[in-house]
Amino acid sequence: MKIFETHAHYDDEAFDKDREELINSFCDNNIYAVTNIGADLAGCRATMELIKKYDFFYGAIGIHPSDVEDLESFKDDEKALSILRDMALSHERVVAIGEIGLDYHYDDTDKILQEKWFVKQLDLARELNLPVVIHSRDAAMDTIDIMKREKSEDIGGVIHCYSYSKEIAKIFLDMGFYIGVGGVLTFKNSKKLKETVAYAPLERIVLETDSPYLAPEPYRGKRNSSLNIPYVAEELANIKGVSVEEVYEVTWNNALKLYNISDDCETSK
Ligand code: NI
Repeated sequence: MKIFETHAHYDDEAFDKDREELINSFCDNNIYAVTNIGADLAGCRATMELIKKYDFFYGAIGIHPSDVEDLESFKDDEKALSILRDMALSHERVVAIGEIGLDYHYDDTDKILQEKWFVKQLDLARELNLPVVIHSRDAAMDTIDIMKREKSEDIGGVIHCYSYSKEIAKIFLDMGFYIGVGGVLTFKNSKKLKETVAYAPLERIVLETDSPYLAPEPYRGKRNSSLNIPYVAEELANIKGVSVEEVYEVTWNNALKLYNISDDCETSK
């Protein structure tokens, strides 16, 4: 049994006290692959350090819509992009550009700036032939408009922490994207996500945590880690009417396809 954690932030300060100990416990808990996701520039640099240190770690390099000021502050868009490009090219276990997208949750959102860097990072992914990890919150229609305009179906990737309806899921699935599912699936009020998961083929779902955020029940509100994936997998197995083992096997293969990881470069641990 092998678990692929497709989305976590182990660079987060929430792990400063026990990061090494926690990560070293993963193999004993069937977590055989982890993709650490960059969200700001410091997080991207820390992601590079993590993938150099742990050979079962993969990395995504990109700037979250709420952190695009990190790129804007260079006052030189090409220079800012070249920093991301150089990082992505510097290691073979950088497997995606992300997380990138739109987040309209907060009132002070600069939509124009978010769109600008979403498009530029989609272009970077296309240039580097890497899939994208999409963060989209309260911005479904604009996300779809931009992705269609930019022909993102040619790029591929995952809609991480999927939070929209099953009707919208159909649009992303039709574009070839995977749906990232984590702790929210175990929440009592997650009716919409449960419907989406019932609708989407298991072959298009990947397991994630977004650690340290979004811990599943019964740990809701606490620090999350990949060790909590079984709570999500059990809920997913229930909804799909399959065994947990099947969920792990199918989602493991989905993650390899999503991140274009070939079996022979898969970790032997
Ligand atoms: Ni995230």
